[in-house]
Amino acid sequence: MHGKKILIVDDDALIRHGIKRILEERDCLVEDFSCGHLAIERLQQSSFDLVVTDLKMPGMSGMEVLASIRILQPNIPIIIITGYATVETAVVAMKLGAVDYLAKPFIPDEFCLRIKKALDQSEARAQQTQLHEDEVTQGFEDFIGNSAEMQKIYRRIMQVAPTTSTVLITGESGTGKELVAKAIHKCSPRRDQPFVAIDCTSLAENLLESELFGHVKGSFTGAVQSKAGLFKVADGGTLFLDEVSNISLTTQAKLLRVLQEREVTPIGGTQPIPINIRLIAATNRQLRELVAAGTFREDLYFRLNIIPIDLPPLRERKGDLRILIQHFMQRFSDEIGKDVRLISNAAVELLENYSFPGNIRELENLIERAMVFVEDNIINIDDLELNAKSGNKEPSPISSSIPQSVDELREQKRLLREKAVEPLERAFLVDAMRRNDGNVTRAAEEVGMQRTNFHALLRKQGITGRELE
Ligand SMILES: Nc1ncnc2c1ncn2[C@@H]1O[C@H](COP(=O)(O)OP(=O)(O)OP(=O)(O)O)[C@@H](O)[C@H]1O
Ligand SMILES: [Mg+2]
Repeated sequence: MHGKKILIVDDDALIRHGIKRILEERDCLVEDFSCGHLAIERLQQSSFDLVVTDLKMPGMSGMEVLASIRILQPNIPIIIITGYATVETAVVAMKLGAVDYLAKPFIPDEFCLRIKKALDQSEARAQQTQLHEDEVTQGFEDFIGNSAEMQKIYRRIMQVAPTTSTVLITGESGTGKELVAKAIHKCSPRRDQPFVAIDCTSLAENLLESELFGHVKGSFTGAVQSKAGLFKVADGGTLFLDEVSNISLTTQAKLLRVLQEREVTPIGGTQPIPINIRLIAATNRQLRELVAAGTFREDLYFRLNIIPIDLPPLRERKGDLRILIQHFMQRFSDEIGKDVRLISNAAVELLENYSFPGNIRELENLIERAMVFVEDNIINIDDLELNAKSGNKEPSPISSSIPQSVDELREQKRLLREKAVEPLERAFLVDAMRRNDGNVTRAAEEVGMQRTNFHALLRKQGITGRELE
C-alpha cells in the first residue's frame, strides 16, 4: 500500500482522522474531506487510487458521491463505510459500482485488509480496460477530429450519457459545447424524448423565468394565456441551459430551488409540478471566478458542476486541423455548388500558426468565405481573411441591449447576420458587375441569379455606375 493515494469523505471528523491515521501508518498518502462537493472538486484536479466514503452526510449523499466519481474516474475503486448498514443500501451501493461495503465501527486491521484487496483488484483490472475503437464512433457522427484531446471528450460523453447526472460544459466560444450537449442526449436513454435548449443570454430576467418555469394566465401584464415552462416541455428529456453564467442572481435562486426540489411552480401558480429532466449547462466563462466575484451562487455552481466537461480550444488540438479543413471544404463544396477540393500548403501552414480565437466556428466561417470568393479551384493564402493582426482578439459582443422578446431577439440576430454579410455581399456584387462591364443581365447570369433579384440587391446596396469604375 506504499505511496497509494487515498481520498476520504466523511462528515464525522473523528472517523475521518481515525482512518487517516490508520492508513498513514501504512504509508498511504491521504486527503480527507468533510463533504462530497469538496471531494468531487478535488477529484477533478487530481487522480487517486481509492476513495473511502461515508453514506449519510448532509448535502451530497454518499450515493451521489459514488455516482459522480464513477463518471469522473470510472476505474477508481470506492469503499462505502456507514453506521446504518442495511442489505438494501449495500445492494444499491454495489450496483452503483462500490467495490466494498463496511459497517462502522470496524477493526483497523480488517479495514486495511479490505483496502489492500480493493487496490490489488483495481490494478489487475486497469490492465484490461482499453476502449474499443468502433465503440467511440457511434453517436458521434457530427464530431470531426480524433486527437487525444477529443478522444477524452468522446469517452467522457459515453460515460455520462447513460446517467442522469448534471453536466457542466465549459470551453471558449465555438469549441463545440452545444454539439457535446446534443451528443450526450443522443447517446442517452432519453434520446427519444425532447432535447430543449435555451440561451440564457437572450432574454430579460422576467422573460427568462417565464420561459423556464412557465406562468399562469394573468400572472403579469401580457400573460394573456397560461404557458408551460421549458422544464415542463423538456419533461422526460434533456434541458440545455446555454450561457448559464448570464442568469441573474434572483433567477439563480429560483433555479437552484427547482433543481433541489425536482419540481417547478409556474409564475403566479401555487401548484408545484414534478419534473424529470436531465440538465446540461454550458458557459464560456470561468464560473469559479464569477462565484468569487459574487455574481454566481456557489451552491448553484456546485449543483451544476457535478460532471464537468472542458472543451479544448482548437489551438490546443491542431492535430485535428487538416481533417476539419477537409470536412468543411467538402461541406461547402456541396452547399455552394462549387467544386473546390484543394487548399495550398502555404494556406494550411498559415492556419496552423493561427490562434483561432473563435475556434471551430471561426474555422468554419473562414472556409465558407474562402469557398465563396475563391477564383481557381484551389484555396490560397489570399482567399483566407484571417484576423491575423489580432489573433487573440475578443469576439465582438453579440448585442449591447437585452432583447425584450423572442421576436426582438430574432430581429437582432437577423441584423447581426446582415451586418456580417453585407460587406461580403457588396464586394460580391461589385466584382460581378465589373467582370461584366456593368451589364446587369450578364452579371446576374454569371452568378446564377434571376435578373430581378440581382437588381434588387444592387439597389439595396446602393451600387451605382460610379462604383464600378
Ligand atoms: N469537433 C467538431 N467537429 C465538427 N464540427 C464541430 C466540432 N465542434 C464544433 N463544431 C462546429 O462548430 C460550430 C460551433 O459549435 P457549437 O455551437 O457547438 O460551439 P459552442 O461552444 O456552443 O459556441 P458558443 O460558445 O459560441 O455558443 C458548429 O457549427 C459545430 O457544428
Ligand atoms: Mg453555444
